[in-house]
Amino acid sequence: MEVNKGYFAGKTAVVTGAASGIGLALIEELLASGAEKVVVADFNQANLEKHVNRLKGQYPGKVKGILCNVTLEENVRAMIAGAVEFFGGKIDLLINNAGAGFFGFFVAPSDPGGLEKLGFKEQTNADWEKAFALNFYGALYGCRAAIPLMRKQGGGQIVNIISGIAFYHMPYQSMYAATKAALNAMTLSLRAEFWDDRIKISSATPGTTATAIWEGKTMPEGIQTPQQSARRILAGAANNRRVIYGDDADESGSKNCFDVDCQEIPDQYLLNIARQRRNGKMAV
Ligand SMILES: NC(=O)c1ccc[n+]([C@@H]2O[C@H](COP(=O)([O-])OP(=O)(O)OC[C@H]3O[C@@H](n4cnc5c(N)ncnc54)[C@H](O)[C@@H]3O)[C@@H](O)[C@H]2O)c1
Repeated sequence: MEVNKGYFAGKTAVVTGAASGIGLALIEELLASGAEKVVVADFNQANLEKHVNRLKGQYPGKVKGILCNVTLEENVRAMIAGAVEFFGGKIDLLINNAGAGFFGFFVAPSDPGGLEKLGFKEQTNADWEKAFALNFYGALYGCRAAIPLMRKQGGGQIVNIISGIAFYHMPYQSMYAATKAALNAMTLSLRAEFWDDRIKISSATPGTTATAIWEGKTMPEGIQTPQQSARRILAGAANNRRVIYGDDADESGSKNCFDVDCQEIPDQYLLNIARQRRNGKMAV
């Protein structure tokens, strides 16, 4: 998929969780599309320095790295303020991408079968709070910091990275499914709320993508590259799509997930996933 290069040319953009995987690919595609300046925000200092130094060499004057833990609202506010300063006062695009996959047991299984091999553990309340802090509140804080600035400057754009799991709720990932479904709901409420302020707000699933999120597990078959994912997300953003689908499976899954006339399709699919995972296979 080709990115609409003209759309991003001359724009300023912040991407969170951008020192790795899909976030890094989004930054690289934005720069290749002629973005004026970008901010790479992440809490992994080593990866941030490594990639920001490399990109600064390739795109002098256009790249700034900001260390930011998105679970801390003050960090996010300071990061957005630092970005606006670097951009000379204007922020065109914010992509709230930082997130993690959170696999595990809702309650301890009587027989873990092959799941122990996958490193799954019973999830506690503290784990649930951590998951929401990162996957939900991280993006909420980003929106809350950027929207008043975008409104003041006459418009802007925000893309919140959800997951196909917001539509196809995978077993042994209840925490992940809940955080991303909640983020999708918040995003689509904000889309209508700020439409008349000329702030475009979308959800985007990246599709199943080969990144560190798989935490060393054998990756599913047919997985795509971060670059493929980033290109689809940016192509959808350029068209102001309501929900952007990062791969064809996410797009078709979203069509039948809540359809009263074909409930057996997601049921059969997800039951099959549960059984495969119980046998130690990381199916999606
Ligand atoms: N890879 C996939 O198949 C897939 C599928 C669906 C959705 N996603 C979503 O895509 C997004 C990017 O994930 P990825 O696959 O590129 O994974 P990744 O692990 O390669 O990248 C995640 C980045 O987020 C950063 N991060 C984690 N916690 C942070 C925090 N508290 N503050 C700031 N940065 C933090 C990490 O340091 C890392 O650089 C996530 O929101 C993820 O849920 C990925």
